[in-house]
This record gives sequence, structure tokens and C-alpha cells, in this order.
Amino acid sequence: MPPKNLIRRIGILTGGGDCPGLNVVIRAVVKSAAKRGIQCRGILDGYKGLVLNEVRSLSTDDVSGILTQGGTILGSSNKDDPFHFMETRPNGTVARRDRTADILETIKWHALDALVVLGGDGTMTVADKLVRKGVKIVGVPKTIDNDLVGTDQTFGFDTAVSTATEAIDRLHSTAASHHRVMVVEVMGRYAGWLALASGLAGGGDVILVPEFPYSEKKVAEAIEARHANGRKFSIVVVGEGAHPAGGKMVIDKIRNDSPEKIRLGGIGKFLADRLEASTGVECRTVVLGHVVRGGTPVASDRNLATRYGVEALEMVVDGKFGRMVALKNNVITSVPLSAVGGRTRNVTMNHPLVVAAKSIGITFGQ
Ligand code: F6P
Repeated sequence: MPPKNLIRRIGILTGGGDCPGLNVVIRAVVKSAAKRGIQCRGILDGYKGLVLNEVRSLSTDDVSGILTQGGTILGSSNKDDPFHFMETRPNGTVARRDRTADILETIKWHALDALVVLGGDGTMTVADKLVRKGVKIVGVPKTIDNDLVGTDQTFGFDTAVSTATEAIDRLHSTAASHHRVMVVEVMGRYAGWLALASGLAGGGDVILVPEFPYSEKKVAEAIEARHANGRKFSIVVVGEGAHPAGGKMVIDKIRNDSPEKIRLGGIGKFLADRLEASTGVECRTVVLGHVVRGGTPVASDRNLATRYGVEALEMVVDGKFGRMVALKNNVITSVPLSAVGGRTRNVTMNHPLVVAAKSIGITFGQ
């Protein structure tokens, strides 16, 4: 009988919206596993690959050269919940059913002793439920939103901030040339980390985040005050979940094909139209959208993702399952998966970036 925690083969899965650094984690897990004589298998397209038994080999050769590649070589999906797996019946109707038995089969079929699961809130929620079914899982926190509780930072966030910052930099010159207000909408779901960090780094004049419902009047006043001081342009950075006090978030679409029912989007245009009407200053909207999810990870994300991947493999070897690797005060640690899913880590008024932004005159529309 092999010892209880002997690990010979593991599966790696990337779930949820992609982000820069997924390949870095995959590479780190595969390389450190190889040093221990542990084989790796790649699960394709998130939990869907586990349900449908779509699995590929994952050797050190397979991960050579992927450090700089955005996205994930395994594919991802934010639509598939194995507990409510969607399938189209022969008569065309759509039904959902629990396919976790198929997951257990796939794991047995490939003789996977454990899984390393990379993902955000939704992926970690499902991972936690699978742990309760006996699956040995270590989670790795991914998302450009940086909204996962239990960790100070998710990988992918720094790259998204850099990309958004570069875009805001570029928008400055056209805003200044045309004396316009540029309203830049960025992703982030119900958290404003991306808007806050890129708005501050990009020299935004107004930053609007979901956590602090804004007053349109205050935003208009900030733009008018800049005009009165000879600054004939303004940059407004708005998180997709931002909303006026007493108002609602702007929804792009209700999705019935996804566990994440609400797709946010449209606050930029909504706000730009209203600001143009109230200030008389020409406004334009730029939605950065998925652009910030693409591209090569910045150095800090590569290093964070590598640290996460190495620690995830260590935890597998040590039998620390049902937990997610995490960063606390720049030290890699871990937290229970049960403490992660279904929650959001939000921006607070006393966060150092908010305090610094206010100190230099950036308004949050309060
Ligand atoms: O969670 C990451 C994220 O990019 C959010 O910021 C955004 O709301 C959502 O995913 C978009 O998802 P989709 O890939 O379905 O468009």
C-alpha cells in the first residue's frame, strides 16, 4: 500500500474569465511537480473538461515558452457549473443537472491524486463543493478584479492595471486636444480595485467605484471646476459596477447560460451622456473591456503567479487540501476554500490608494 499522501499524478484546471498569468502558474506547477517525479494532466476548458473527460498531457516540454503568453493553454470557461451542468436535449430544450459523478469518474480514469484549480470566486465556490465530495483540491487565486477574499492580491491584477493605465495615458492627449471629457469604463464586477489603481496611476480626475455610490452633481462640479481653472479636459475612470447614490448598476445582459447571471456594462455611456447634458462639455466613452484581460503578464504578476504555483504544488505534496494559496503581507500562505467563495473583497474609504487619491484632489463623486 502506498503511503496515504503519496501523489503520483495531478490535474490542473483553469476556470472563470481568463487573465494574464494563468500560464505562469501552470508552468510553475508542472515544473515543480516534475522535480518531485509527479506527472501532470491538463483539464480542458475549466470544469467542463472534468465533466466531459477532456484531458491532455502536460509535460515540462508543453510548458516551455508559455511564461510570456497571456490566456491559458488549457482553455477556460465561466459558464460551466458541474452541479448545474447545462445540456441541450435532442428536442432542443435546455436542462441542467448535477454531473459531479462524471467528474469523479474522470479523476479515477486518469488516476489523478489531486487537482490544482486556478480561478476566481465562482471557480473556488465549486472547488469547495467538490472538496466536500472527496476531491483533493488546492486553489490558486486568479482574477483581474482582485476581489477575492482571503488574499491581498490575485495574479493578473497588476497586468490589467498596467494595460488600463497605458490606455488612460493615451486618452489624455486626445482629451486635451479636443477639450473633452473622456469617460473610461473598466471591468471589475462589484469591486473597484481596477478603476481605483488604474485611475490613480493614470492621473484620472474622477474615479468612480461600486463601493462608493456617486453624486452626479459632484462629478459635474469637479469637471466644471477644472474648466474654470483652465483645464479644459477631464478623465473620468469608472468601474463597471459603479452607480449613482440611490441608483442601480447598469446591466449589459442577463445571462441564462451562466452561473454568473448578470453581465455588467454601460455605466460609461450612461454617465457620459448625462455629464455632457449637465456640463455642456463634449464627452466621449471608452470601454476598455476585455483588452485588459489580454497580453503578456507584467513582471510582478509573473513572479506572484510563479510563487503561487510553487506553493500550490507544495500544498498538494503536504496534503493540505481544501485550501487556496494566498498572499498576506507579501508572504505566501493559504486559506480554507470555504472562506473564499460567494464573497467579495471590496475597496474601503481608508485604503491607502483612496486616501492618496483624495489627498491629491481626485474626486470619488462624494
Ligand atoms: O471577473 C473577470 C471579469 O473580467 C469581470 O471584470 C467582468 O465583469 C467579467 O469577467 C466579464 O466576463 P465575460 O468573460 O463573460 O465577458
